[in-house]
Amino acid sequence: MEVIVKETYEQVSCLAAQMVADQVRRKPRSVLGLATGSTPIGTYAELIRMHKEEDLDFSQVVTFNLDEYVGMAPVQEQSYRYFMNDKLFNHINIRKENTYVPDGLAGDIPAACEAFEEAILEHGGIDIQILGIGGNGHIGFNEPGSSLSSRTRVKTLNAATRADNSRFFATPDEVPRYAVTMGIGTIMDADHIILLANKESKAAVIAAAVEGPLTAMCPASVLQLHPSVVVITDKAAAGLLRGEYPTAPHTLVVK
Ligand code: F6R
Repeated sequence: MEVIVKETYEQVSCLAAQMVADQVRRKPRSVLGLATGSTPIGTYAELIRMHKEEDLDFSQVVTFNLDEYVGMAPVQEQSYRYFMNDKLFNHINIRKENTYVPDGLAGDIPAACEAFEEAILEHGGIDIQILGIGGNGHIGFNEPGSSLSSRTRVKTLNAATRADNSRFFATPDEVPRYAVTMGIGTIMDADHIILLANKESKAAVIAAAVEGPLTAMCPASVLQLHPSVVVITDKAAAGLLRGEYPTAPHTLVVK
């Protein structure tokens, strides 16, 4: 696990976007795993800027999103499909048919989950997966106690997650109770993972995920076992880390 601590959220976002852009330039048919939530919004804004000002080309890129609420239609503003269109896809030259978000309205959700997993494999697997982290350690909607080898499936959202996400709904009762989420095993299959966190409210969970014991009660801690994870945080989210971490990625300079 490589941990990079930046001064500000803007710097976190720029570094993450730079890593994604490098991947897309190196391999135009890249498969990106994407997250919703507040954390990656700055990264997406920077990718949009790079597309508009630096010709970053998404025409061959394929994306898979981590999760979607069950029962939520793409036209509903709180749906993750709506979020992705609004925050990224509508502003870059990606082909919408190359953007996969789990279908919260599928009649047969288990079959849709299986098809989602198959689509990832058909596209050759995820090159880079972007993750945020829940205050309870969830990644995707893999709540504490999730199986560390789980695949895409329906999960019941726990009370803390529903309370966190109630900020996007008129009343807390409107927050859905179930979501389709990539499994932890699915996430761990990605070649590279970038975990983003900012704000003091994430300091305890970042310390648990990065330096704490590996436990299903903090699902993000399993990332310690992945061979290529970069955790990028701002100073506030790094506030409870005990190790010393650099402010820039390791780069091997060969002369
Ligand atoms: C979103 C997702 C969640 C969020 C997490 C953090 O697709 O999978 O795991 O990344 O809940 O959310 P924010 O960024 O809003 O703090």
